Amino acid sequence: MSTASAPGKIILFGEHAVVYGQPALAVPVTQVRAEATVIEKAPKEKGKAGEIEIYARDLRRRYTLSKAAANDPLALAVRLTLDFLQLPITNNAFTVSITSTIPRASGLGSGAAVCTAIVRALATHFHAPITNSQVSSIVFETEKLLHGTPSGIDNTVIAYNQPVWFIKGQPPEPFTVAEPFQLLIADTGIASPTKITVGDVRAAWQREPKKYEALFNEIGAISGMARNIITKTNADENYVPAVALVALGMAMKLNHDLLISLGVSSPELDNLVQAALNAGALGAKLSGGGRGGNMLALVTPETSAQVEAALKQAGAVRVLSTTITNNQ
Ligand code: PMV
Repeated sequence: MSTASAPGKIILFGEHAVVYGQPALAVPVTQVRAEATVIEKAPKEKGKAGEIEIYARDLRRRYTLSKAAANDPLALAVRLTLDFLQLPITNNAFTVSITSTIPRASGLGSGAAVCTAIVRALATHFHAPITNSQVSSIVFETEKLLHGTPSGIDNTVIAYNQPVWFIKGQPPEPFTVAEPFQLLIADTGIASPTKITVGDVRAAWQREPKKYEALFNEIGAISGMARNIITKTNADENYVPAVALVALGMAMKLNHDLLISLGVSSPELDNLVQAALNAGALGAKLSGGGRGGNMLALVTPETSAQVEAALKQAGAVRVLSTTITNNQ
């Protein structure tokens, strides 16, 4: 039996624009995780074709690889990993059992995390070394089934399990967080498939390319500014931690306003953003695909409790607290 797990993730800056080549920043969230366990079948059950089984425990779904739908990302993760390991599907008989505490369709990377856990559990089970980049490439293929035209940011941050500066088509650059900062992650409780918002932004961009490209460029510039703020250290001239936090909060607000202009916010997200700001958050924005899912609020130890209470009062169904550091 072999088990592997993978964290959730949040996008700090740059969602949607990242699909069009702009930079984005994302970090793992270790409070929520997906886990996959490979369990060998009894010897008498081995040897028959199609005996690889997927058991999604939380969804109470159990099915064999041979019966999986063509667009099933979990089955694709298993097939591609066996291909990569050069193991024939028909000579194997095992169950891949999956469980996850990452809310689905909410911008926390649940699909990519489950598939990452599957790839790693299989590699461990068959004693095969696999690099972060190889895991990420396999999971990217599964993301295409879920998202249509993904940028690759989710599979990258989750497979590398560290903060990344990401530009589509380029190797990810891990970045160093100079001063840890605290975020609240509040869930609207509304499931919103990323494929739909990404598709809507694409349609809008096709109708008015100039307008949308200008918005993407502005979002990319904010990602760059945020990276400078996050990676500056005390050793840098003119660095004042409190000022850096205020600047980071402003960058979040600007990014949220641009996401509104892209058409991917919603009254519920705007309501949570406003509630967080009113309660003393230094900044707030939606995170991920939008129209539902999660938003982020930048808080300090002094404001954390009051912002959390305000978010719940405003309708958040769950509020997680996470500290962004290098050691996620
Ligand atoms: O998986 P989500 O909902 O966090 O969204 C991914 C981020 C997008 O930029 C909206 C899409 C993408 O592929 O980068």
